[in-house]
Amino acid sequence: MTKPTRKNACVFGLGWGDEGKGKVVDLLCPTFDIVVRFNGGANAGHTVWVGDEKFALHLLPIGVLHETITSVIGPGVVVDPVQLISEIDGLAARGIAVGSRLKISDRAHLVLPYHKLEDQLGEKSAAGDKKIGTTARGIGPCYADKMKRSTAVRFADLIHDDDLESRVRSIVADRQTMLRALFDDDGGLDADAVIADVMMAKTRLGGNICDTTTFLHDSMDDQKTVLFEGANGTLLDVDHGTYPFVTSSSTGPHGIGNGAGVPAARVSTVVGTMKAYATRVGSGPFVSELTGDMGDKIRQQGNEFGTTTGRPRRCGWFDAVSGRHAVRLTGTTDIALMHLDTLGGFDQVGICVAYRLDGKDLASPPAHASQLEAAEPVIEFMPGWPSDLRSIRSFEDLPQAARGYVERLEVLLGAGVSIIGVGPERSQVLLRGDLRDITPSPETTIA
Ligand code: IMP
Repeated sequence: MTKPTRKNACVFGLGWGDEGKGKVVDLLCPTFDIVVRFNGGANAGHTVWVGDEKFALHLLPIGVLHETITSVIGPGVVVDPVQLISEIDGLAARGIAVGSRLKISDRAHLVLPYHKLEDQLGEKSAAGDKKIGTTARGIGPCYADKMKRSTAVRFADLIHDDDLESRVRSIVADRQTMLRALFDDDGGLDADAVIADVMMAKTRLGGNICDTTTFLHDSMDDQKTVLFEGANGTLLDVDHGTYPFVTSSSTGPHGIGNGAGVPAARVSTVVGTMKAYATRVGSGPFVSELTGDMGDKIRQQGNEFGTTTGRPRRCGWFDAVSGRHAVRLTGTTDIALMHLDTLGGFDQVGICVAYRLDGKDLASPPAHASQLEAAEPVIEFMPGWPSDLRSIRSFEDLPQAARGYVERLEVLLGAGVSIIGVGPERSQVLLRGDLRDITPSPETTIA
């Protein structure tokens, strides 16, 4: 396919994850040469439906589903090698060879069994309201080791550290002591098993390890275009999210500088993905949450169960307060509004337009979880639309109430909606504005 001249782009989540990023990346990526993951790890779950076939990737960039694309795992990603190898093998069994199309940064860090144990045991022992409800994938403990430095293991170590085995043994011994002291349980942590994972990573992934930062800059110098695939979501961002109920990385375009080594100025199309309603998985404040029948109905209609953990997702009305905040701090140029079809069949649909706290209406989220827990949503209702939207392919053909809803969100968010999801399949999207010109046919076939 001829690639139009275009600039680099980022697709990321504006919510608490699960916004449909996988589908948007998949839709856009055939016009890019390279797709890059720059944050998070196997806590992410990016899903693409191709006909009846479901692809759920946790660590591999969605680009691997397209045979002309090089996929990169950048320095900012924390990589569980066992999970990564299992994803590569899973795709191979379905006829998709990843091979040398995948490049892993030599600066990326490894998630090892003790990170996952620490995550699980920490969550198990935390008091009810202190549980973050993590995905138990070892993300936080691995990023903590990265900051601590002396206990970190990077992909470059697999190649250059001749002393790696004894260093890992010593890290494991310290970690056993720590786990027993904190949790009275070391979870069966075994140094030989950890070394076996490290050696498997070296053998199976060694050929994929390289300096991805230089690769990206050289590629951009050669006029190659890059799509950055954010994981998790802006409301889970370690600096800007609903702290401490967040993940441990920079989840939006501001994470590209650190997580991929590419300055944000080189990314001009910033596609923030959100759903037509709000969801959250795990603990933490959720001002517009619907706990009764309405929330159950959205969960069922939207099949809102976690891709990574299978947990039922909490559902609520669209939150324009946190949405606008997220759009502003990420410089979103285009919104991808997914799951509009899920709201079909409601008499009216609600939008949270302010947080009421201590008698005042707040237009942006306060910093402390206790303030968010105490805040009441101010809901504006709009007429619903009875019909099934899944066969509609243009914005103009949407029921008037659905169009009115999208246009109201654009005003509240301060950014235009360029992509609208009306069903899970690749083809079930409506395209508007500039993205209509640069997006390939959604019927693109899989590699
Ligand atoms: P962690 O990233 O596993 O440490 O989990 C921290 C919080 O972020 C928990 O509430 C998780 O449920 C949530 N989380 C992390 N990644 C995702 C994601 O990709 N989708 C939805 N929630 C996520």
